[in-house]
Amino acid sequence: MNLRNSEDRYGAVAQLLHWGMLILFIALYLIAESMEEMPKGPDKLELIGLHKSLGVTALLLVLARVGWRFMSPPPATAADLNPMQQKVAGALHILLYICMFAMPLTGYVMSMAGGHPIEVFGLFSLPDLVGQSHDLKEFAEDSHKAIWVIIMVLVGLHAAAALFHHFVAKDSILRRMLPGGASA
Ligand code: HEM
Ligand code: HEM
Repeated sequence: MNLRNSEDRYGAVAQLLHWGMLILFIALYLIAESMEEMPKGPDKLELIGLHKSLGVTALLLVLARVGWRFMSPPPATAADLNPMQQKVAGALHILLYICMFAMPLTGYVMSMAGGHPIEVFGLFSLPDLVGQSHDLKEFAEDSHKAIWVIIMVLVGLHAAAALFHHFVAKDSILRRMLPGGASA
């Protein structure tokens, strides 16, 4: 399989970044759920640290993803979609990109404004570009939670559309993002 995107399908790099992000989002969600249920203590702090490190990894991954789109342009909009569906799919992709940036950035602001450092896997710390502020921390925390709800709705629609095309319309949309499968 080609590393680069071709005219009618995504290559290995775009696929790895796409499905890797899905796995990372599931892990971040599961960790967030368990860290919120835990009583205060070192175990909870460790889990929050892991969530932050993986969250920063997600930010790096989305930067790599945008960079890769410039280096290897994505395939043309799927011919299996009518013009209206093409517009909706394109708009959903843009909104998903905005959320993929907004989620880690609100996490960053929440931590910094709350006066909590961000150490990435114990390797390095992020600089504080925000300064402490109770109101800003509350705002970033509410935003982090609200954007997560938006992500779940958008990803739900996006995934349902992909599965509909694969199993009901039986076209090539999902196969464009899967290894191996035949082209359009
Ligand atoms: C794409 C990346 C990220 C995803 C998908 C994500 C996801 C989540 C989710 C689902 C929650 C639970 C929200 C709720 O209670 O409804 C959460 C909470 C939290 N996240 Fe993230 N997160 C990300 C990045 C980050 C980053 C980069 C940081 C900090 C550096 C961070 C810090 C936190 C903290 C501290 C909480 C607990 C908030 C509270 O007090 O309730 N997150 N995150
Ligand atoms: C079960 C979950 C998912 C399924 C089945 C799925 C399926 C797909 C498919 C089939 C495509 C290719 C569409 C085309 O032909 O143009 C695609 C592209 C895309 N997906 Fe997903 N996806 C899922 C989860 C996600 C998640 C979690 C995100 C981000 C938070 C996401 C963001 C995108 C974006 C931005 C594109 C446009 C191509 C790119 O820039 O990578 N998807 N998805």
